[in-house]
Amino acid sequence: MIRAAEATVLDAIGATPLFGVRRITGPGDAELLLKWERTNPGGSVKDRPARHIVDVAERLGRLRPGGTIIESSSGNFGISLAMIGAARGYRVIILIDPKTTPANRRVLEAFGADIITVTEQDDTGSYHKTRIALANDLARRIPGSFRPDQCFSLLNSHAHYLRTGAELLAGCEGRLDALVGAVSTGGQLGGLSRYLRRHSPVTRIVGADATGSTVFGGTSRAYLVPGVGLGWTPANLDLDLIDAAYQVSSADTFYACRALARSEGVLAGASSGAVLLAGLREAERLGPGARVVCLLADGGDRYLDTVYDDGWLAAHDIVLDEVNVAGLRRRAGRLHPIGEERPLTPTVVAGLEQRLRVPSSTHQLNDLVQRDWAAETLAETS
Ligand SMILES: Cc1ncc(COP(=O)(O)O)c(C=O)c1O
Repeated sequence: MIRAAEATVLDAIGATPLFGVRRITGPGDAELLLKWERTNPGGSVKDRPARHIVDVAERLGRLRPGGTIIESSSGNFGISLAMIGAARGYRVIILIDPKTTPANRRVLEAFGADIITVTEQDDTGSYHKTRIALANDLARRIPGSFRPDQCFSLLNSHAHYLRTGAELLAGCEGRLDALVGAVSTGGQLGGLSRYLRRHSPVTRIVGADATGSTVFGGTSRAYLVPGVGLGWTPANLDLDLIDAAYQVSSADTFYACRALARSEGVLAGASSGAVLLAGLREAERLGPGARVVCLLADGGDRYLDTVYDDGWLAAHDIVLDEVNVAGLRRRAGRLHPIGEERPLTPTVVAGLEQRLRVPSSTHQLNDLVQRDWAAETLAETS
C-alpha cells in the first residue's frame, strides 16, 4: 500500500468496479456483470497498458527525463499517455484521425499533448496504417523519443495479463463462465485470454468487433464506431485462445449504448455497445446459473456529441427506433458468433511491419515479453 503523500494520480489506475445489471436480462439468462474501466484516472482501460509500457521503458532506459512519447491513437490510449506524460514530465505527441471525437481531442489538449490529425485513409478505409507509419517516421526524426506502439508492442497485452486478469477473476471470486471484450489492438482481449486460459480454463473468451473490421477474418469495410476494429489481426491477440467473436453494426452498437444508459443508468462509451450486445447474447445462450462479464472500456461522457447525439447519427444516415429493453434484446438475439459460422481466421498482411517501419525498440521489448511468457510456461510444466 502506497502512502497517500507518496502516491501520484497514476496510482489510481486499476481496481475498477464490477457490478451486475438485472433490468436488461431475462429469467432465462445468465447473470450479467459489467467491469467498468471508466474510473481509471484517464477515463479508460488504456491507462493500464500505457502506464505499464512507460514504466518498462523508463526501467530499461528507453525513456529518459526530457524525452518525447509519440503514439498513434484514436483517442483513449493517447489520452492515457498524455496524462502520464503530464504527471511525469514528458512531451507527448499523439497522431489522431477524423474519427477521434472532439471531446477526446479536447482532453488531449487539456493534458498539454501535441496533436497531429492524420486525414489520409489507408487501403482499408481506416487510418491505422497511415497514422502508425507517420508516428514511426516522427520517432526516427525526434531525438530522445519513445514509441509505446500499442498495435505492435506485446507489452500492451502483457499489462492486462499481469494485472487486469487477476483483478477480474478475484472480483468474480474465481467463477467466470464467459468474458466479453472489445477488440482493436488486441491488448485487452489478448492479455485476458492468455491469463484466463491459465487460471480459469473453463471461461469462454468472447470478442466484440465492428462489422467491417477484419480482426477475425472476412472482408474489410468502413465503419463508424471509434475504438474498435482493425484491418488485420493484431500481434497481441492469439485467435487460438478466442472461443467466439461477434461483429456488431454501428447502428446496433449505438442503440445498445443508449439502451444501457436509459435502462441501467450506465453511461458507457461507443465500444461498450458492441460488448453489451455480445454479452447479452452469451448470457442468453449460457442460461441461468452461468456468469458473463462484459469489460466496458470507457464512459459515455466523451461521446455526448456523437453516439448520444441524434443530429450526429442522422448526419451519418443512422436513425434509431425507440430505445428500450425489448429493442436491445431483439438486437442481441440477432447476433451470431463468427466462430460458429466460419472459423476465426487471422488476417495477415504480408510485410506490414516492414512497410510501417515498426521500430526496433518494439521488437526488443517484445523479445522480453515472450521470454517472460516462455519462462512461466516452463515453470508450470516442470
Ligand atoms: C473505447 C475503446 N474500446 C475498445 C478498445 C479496444 O481495445 P484494445 O485496443 O485493447 O483491443 C479501445 C482501443 O482503443 C477503445 O478505445
